[in-house]
Amino acid sequence: MPQKRVKLKLKSNAKKPLMIIGVILLVIVILLVFYFNRIGELKNLGYSEEAAKSIIFKFKYSYVMNIGENKTLNAAFSSDDYKEDNLDNYAKIDYENQEHLISNINKLLNKGYSVDEVNLIISKGDDESVSDFAKREKVKYIEEFLSVDYAKLENLDRYVAYKEKENDDAETTVLYVNMDFDKEDYVDPLVIDDFDDYVLVNKHRQLSSKYVPDDLVTIDEEYVKADGEIEIERNVAKAFYDMAEAASKEGLELMVSSGYRSYEDQEEITNTYLELYGQNYVDNYVAKPGFSEHQTAMSLDIASKSVNTFVESDEYSWMMDNAYKYGFILRYPRSKEDITGYKCEAWHYRYVGKKIAKYIKENNITYDEYYVMFLDD
Ligand code: DAL
Ligand code: ZN
Repeated sequence: MPQKRVKLKLKSNAKKPLMIIGVILLVIVILLVFYFNRIGELKNLGYSEEAAKSIIFKFKYSYVMNIGENKTLNAAFSSDDYKEDNLDNYAKIDYENQEHLISNINKLLNKGYSVDEVNLIISKGDDESVSDFAKREKVKYIEEFLSVDYAKLENLDRYVAYKEKENDDAETTVLYVNMDFDKEDYVDPLVIDDFDDYVLVNKHRQLSSKYVPDDLVTIDEEYVKADGEIEIERNVAKAFYDMAEAASKEGLELMVSSGYRSYEDQEEITNTYLELYGQNYVDNYVAKPGFSEHQTAMSLDIASKSVNTFVESDEYSWMMDNAYKYGFILRYPRSKEDITGYKCEAWHYRYVGKKIAKYIKENNITYDEYYVMFLDD
């Protein structure tokens, strides 16, 4: 009998701790379910696992759920540079895929830039230029220049200097500086290393002497008005044949007097014209080797079969009205000599494709301007 009583006592003593452990386990299970549920909700909204964990541990779940998907918040919560004081601002800043985005946003806000200014700064630069800029003392004129669509953060000081000198409006200033008008022709040119069909070559943008396009074809003999063969990029040749066929239906005969020219060809041409007509002529009409669009194989000098002075031919007038329909633009027009840096060349056409050619024709701009506005990054 006494043995039985002892047993009962032991059982009653063990009951309480077991209950406590049970309750603790239950709470843990509930918390875990709750936690994983919230992580899942945040991930469904587009937050990464890392950001979702950080959001929960920083007690910002409700804040973030209220805002919804936000890539900058995602970056902030995934970053060691997260600062609670800047939380509301992170949410208002457009995301850019930049390695030091959050640390740069912190620095810029700290310098006193507004959220709008930070948005402009990070959208007009890359990680390197924004990081450099974030180290500087606060700069003025952010909105004036960087709100122009094609402005570049790295050019900001040049915009300010150019505006002081020329006093053009902000849009013109940005356009002209991006076209390197604040530099002398052929001085400190950009050396083009990523060649594609849209490449821009001018007195500020140079091709390597070794650059040779890789899809050259020979123009059919019947269209050649020159001694020897003329090569050109395959798609340009196709577009030219289409154009020549359309012109021939109107009784006109388009020919080609020059196409692809190697670096060495251009060197020879420059020297010949220098001897014949002197430096001034060369500066106005002949590109230095490496600076000729002919080296891209995307340009053609057009001729008329019957009339030797092209500008006096019906083919010239027809080209002025119709070339854009086949993807060609007059590259050096008379009204744009200040922009292209060359005197008008009635014969020199550049292939840019139908869409761009139409835009350039309708808006009466040069390829230099089009490139800076829409293709340069
Ligand atoms: N005549 C043009 C500008 C060239 O030499 O490329
Ligand atoms: Zn030419």
